[in-house]
Amino acid sequence: MNKLIIANWKMYYGPVKAGAWVRAFRRERLPKDLDIGIAVPSVSLAAARASLGRATIPALCAQNVFWEKEGAYTGEISPTMLVEFGVSLCLVGHSERRRYLGETDDMTAKKAAALQKAGIVPVVCVGETEVERKKKQTKSIIKKQVAKAVADLKPDGRAPAVIAYEPVWAIGSGKPCDPVMAKEAHDVIRDVIGSAWGPRIKDEIRIIYGGSVTDRNIHAYMTTTGIDGALVGGASLDPRTFALLCRSAVPA
Ligand code: 13P
Repeated sequence: MNKLIIANWKMYYGPVKAGAWVRAFRRERLPKDLDIGIAVPSVSLAAARASLGRATIPALCAQNVFWEKEGAYTGEISPTMLVEFGVSLCLVGHSERRRYLGETDDMTAKKAAALQKAGIVPVVCVGETEVERKKKQTKSIIKKQVAKAVADLKPDGRAPAVIAYEPVWAIGSGKPCDPVMAKEAHDVIRDVIGSAWGPRIKDEIRIIYGGSVTDRNIHAYMTTTGIDGALVGGASLDPRTFALLCRSAVPA
């Protein structure tokens, strides 16, 4: 299975800049054996798709979704709307949405299940805060977050989700989690998945790391067993830097 690297632009780049980013990125040399996604703001999905055309690299990833198909849910976006843009991945439960928008494990689970029904792979984000790590609650927090988020997903022969381990204290802080420490968390997550879906999917599911990943430290993560890719915020905003990060992840 290829490694997976997803750019998360967060709340950067409206349609004009999104189109320009995609065109610039498509001109870059990229490793063949790497899966790449870009998580763009909803209002920029159309522009990103237009610049991508039929190209599937990078894959289009949404940053948010609502769990109903349609209805009186002002401001929300349904999985079927995302399908119209050719979205194949969608983040759920990102710590910034948990913190600023009150997204809970229960909401994350509903979103993940709705995405699966629409044929979009949920990228379930989990991770402990600095206080929780200091209190030695890391394992129990991520166990609970993962178990709840995947509770309504069905593994129809293959892994129905990607899990992103993003320790909150490592996000945007310039203080990346040591790869060995990240691996410990990934192992905990893999065990939860094994209990839910059995040994084959436990091996196959991609668990990616996020938090201050750069083109300089990506290699250390990619060469650590059990880390199957990365979710990259700040270092994805410049298309050339992000392409360099992708090349550093899987050297030719
Ligand atoms: P940074 O790479 O900016 O730390 O952000 C990580 C993140 O939250 C990706 O979803």
